[in-house]
Amino acid sequence: MIGRLNHVAIAVPDLAAAAANYRDVLGAKVSAPQALPEHGVTVVFVELPNAKIELLHPLGANSPIAAFLEKNPSGGMHHVCYEVDNILAARDKLKAAGKRVLGDGEPKIGAHNKPVLFLHPKDFSGTLVEIEQV
Ligand code: CO
Repeated sequence: MIGRLNHVAIAVPDLAAAAANYRDVLGAKVSAPQALPEHGVTVVFVELPNAKIELLHPLGANSPIAAFLEKNPSGGMHHVCYEVDNILAARDKLKAAGKRVLGDGEPKIGAHNKPVLFLHPKDFSGTLVEIEQV
């Protein structure tokens, strides 16, 4: 069921500084910041040869990463995203295995315009897991 690692998302307190680190120090290809108001984040996409890193910064009053940054003021890994072929089949298999799907359990359109779901961190070794249909 599980496919490639699509991205690792890192919440950061200073988006420009984090982007500069990846671009200037690590030599990665880094996008301009993109505001995604429907997700409550501004994101910078870092392209690596085998996956992406997404640098997330809160946008707006109800950002889902604001509380995370309060607990982790210098930033931290927020979630990992794995690719699946069929998100509904994956969801049903996960639910049948007793895994908790966050929200109403219906896929939402994620930052890459593809359907995504999030899985409860307590069911996956303390890591928030996103699955994305590709
Ligand atoms: Co993500």
